[in-house]
Amino acid sequence: MKFALETFALAFLVSATNAQCTQSTSFEINSATKLSFAGYNPSVTRTLNTGVGNKVVLSGYRNEPVINEVDDGTIQISLGEPCDGSPIPNPEAPDLSEGSSAASMTKYVGWGLAALVGHKSALAGSTLAMSMTVGLLSSSPPTVMAQQDVISECELVPIEVEIYVDAMASEIVQMEYQTGEFEVCPPETMFWEHHPTVFGGYSGCVAELGLYPCASDAQGVTIDDGEFYAQSPVYWDGESCVETDFTISNRTFWILWGNPMDKYELNKRTGINPVVSFPFNRMPYATYEIGGDPMTSQDESNNARVMAKEVLEYIGAWTMEEMEDFSVTITEGAEQGMVHLFAAKAMEIAQTTCNRDINVLMEVPAYGYSTTDAAMIANQFASSFYNSSECECYATDSCKDPTVTVTMRGWLPNTPFPEATGGDGVVYAANSASPNSPWFESMVFPENPTGVIKTPQISDPNRRVCDGVYLWPMYLGARDFQIPKDEIPDCSAWSFSISKIYSAAARAGWIMYKKEPVSNHEAMVAAIDTSQTMTHGSLSEWTWHGQQQLFKAFMSKPLDDPTSWIGAYTEIMREKWDAILEGFADCPVVQLSNDYSGAYAWFVFQEPYLGVQDSSTPSFFRDVLGVYATTYSWGFRGATPSDFYGEGYGFNDFTRLQLYRDLAVYEEIGRRAKIVCADLDASVASNLVSVNQWVQVSTATRSRRLGEGYETFEDRKRHLKESVPSLTERQLHHLANGQVEGERTDAAIASCAPDYTTHCLFRSIGVFKPDDF
Ligand SMILES: *[C@@H]1O[C@H](CO)[C@@H](O)[C@H](O)[C@H]1NC(C)=O
Ligand SMILES: *[C@@H]1O[C@H](CO)[C@@H](O)[C@H](O)[C@H]1NC(C)=O
Repeated sequence: MKFALETFALAFLVSATNAQCTQSTSFEINSATKLSFAGYNPSVTRTLNTGVGNKVVLSGYRNEPVINEVDDGTIQISLGEPCDGSPIPNPEAPDLSEGSSAASMTKYVGWGLAALVGHKSALAGSTLAMSMTVGLLSSSPPTVMAQQDVISECELVPIEVEIYVDAMASEIVQMEYQTGEFEVCPPETMFWEHHPTVFGGYSGCVAELGLYPCASDAQGVTIDDGEFYAQSPVYWDGESCVETDFTISNRTFWILWGNPMDKYELNKRTGINPVVSFPFNRMPYATYEIGGDPMTSQDESNNARVMAKEVLEYIGAWTMEEMEDFSVTITEGAEQGMVHLFAAKAMEIAQTTCNRDINVLMEVPAYGYSTTDAAMIANQFASSFYNSSECECYATDSCKDPTVTVTMRGWLPNTPFPEATGGDGVVYAANSASPNSPWFESMVFPENPTGVIKTPQISDPNRRVCDGVYLWPMYLGARDFQIPKDEIPDCSAWSFSISKIYSAAARAGWIMYKKEPVSNHEAMVAAIDTSQTMTHGSLSEWTWHGQQQLFKAFMSKPLDDPTSWIGAYTEIMREKWDAILEGFADCPVVQLSNDYSGAYAWFVFQEPYLGVQDSSTPSFFRDVLGVYATTYSWGFRGATPSDFYGEGYGFNDFTRLQLYRDLAVYEEIGRRAKIVCADLDASVASNLVSVNQWVQVSTATRSRRLGEGYETFEDRKRHLKESVPSLTERQLHHLANGQVEGERTDAAIASCAPDYTTHCLFRSIGVFKPDDF
């Protein structure tokens, strides 16, 4: 870095002493233009504008630049004669004081300077000319490469290179919002100006989550949210940002749900300015023809429907030919899609069999959906239900009553399948191949929370619906970050969304469902049609129009290009896994069960630590590592963990850690894990406990809870201190707070039974909770 500053200081000095000689020349550039410099050490600025044309302006030089076009559209600028014939002065010590040209160099806008300085610091000690090897009109950072011809210091000459680019809409928007290429905020935050009545009109970096002020991750929101939440380096006290004495190395982290996300890293690595833009003209009501042929139907989303398949071909999941048997409908995300697939499958079964109590086979632990909503949708079509003498409902003439129920039933490999009695009085195992079975199967591929790449259990693909929200290369590290085409299950319908490949805030996705049997197609169309009534807001033009542009952006570069959307994210995921795997390697407490597979790290506790946790809020992560995560205890859906994981395993002997946050978060967790796993008496912060203390606290708390419980907060602390005398006041405070919070959370989660919908869980275990939760 020092060398770079010297070079620029020198450049400035020469320029200043030869002001009379300063000249300017310019030439036009296009998207293929590359620049290389021989003999010059340029300072580069890049100006985005509209209507100025795309050009490079060279000025401030004292040697005539010789401009030559060489191969591949590269324009090479080399050193000509000094324009005043004067000798070149010896370099002097650079002036690095505040306000000097050298100091101000770092304030240049755009990527040019950062790239140049970064390169030169790596080469400190020699002076090299540089070449920029990417298109000048591209917004990605150029790679600056050294040329062979090393020049001596006394030949150094100044040149100022100004690149003017006719800005694209995406650049102008990103510049205005100070993000993308123009990011001004730290990871997990964004620039925002609040209305004067909101957060006191705070303007600056806000959390992605809730747009909370203070350039934080919104996890230390206000002191009212409790001690646990306020253990972040900065929080909003209602009027201003208040710094605490927590730093990244001893603060607490929420690593739950998809909050917040790693936008910063993704933008940096792709160099993309992600913007969706289209004219907003006066328009009539949107017109769709659900399930129609995109070639002929009156459906404004036809292009997006076709492009959704192209995306699946691009990632290597299916070819366009293989998807000819499927219809596509644009939706508002994976859950909306899945609930309607559940509804459609239940509806189809009720239309073709005696069954009304429909069971869904799930290999657990598994993600779930609102089966109550699915049943409600199916029951809107009760008049079409099957009515025949072999059905029990026939006796009471209730076959066409809206009596459908949908129940998720968990199953673990190597255990007997659960059973259910059908509407014909016959008992069916979950994997029954009978067309009269009351069962269908649901699979997330790969699964949340375990990353398991599942195998279908029911032979008839028409009895299977699949969630493809993680069917992206970055979640398939267990398969070399490639879609395992041969392992993809054959399903009657799939639900996809942009949430796990890009953003969960913009609700957009699509379902893809088979045209055959016709009963499947008709039920799918009928079910999803209920989501597009005016009551549900119809489907905004923006949903498919914007999604279509995202599809284009995803596919704009080859999949294996590390600056492509998926290529960059794949690398980010790999690095996150690396950080976690290294940190927890050989940890005696937990074992990471799913290296590189899925979007979550799934930790399985080990002997002798089974049963130490007795709450859905995992105390090892909370009290030893300072991380708020979840056990995913509700994900077993009626199955018994010990049947699969072995003797002694209960619902709380697991922890799910999502992998969506900034890379630095996982590096920090890995660092902490390494310490506490290697030394069972070590703690990583003054308020956190060691593994051994955690076991003692848990044992003491459990015996107390079985007895009389705690009356007050102080009572709780006093008892903990008596049981584990080594605990300090800070530790006691953290433990007591965590326990109170854990008990509240457990009660809230229990209120989400039996569906445990994501909506309910978000409210129960969210950073922002309504008062009644
Ligand atoms: C966190 O670490 C910083 C830096 O080491 C220290 O000053 C601070 O007191 C620590 N805070 C707590 C709560 O331990
Ligand atoms: C069911 O079928 C029987 C026999 O055809 C018929 O009498 C009865 O009305 C049907 N029930 C309904 C609700 O349509």
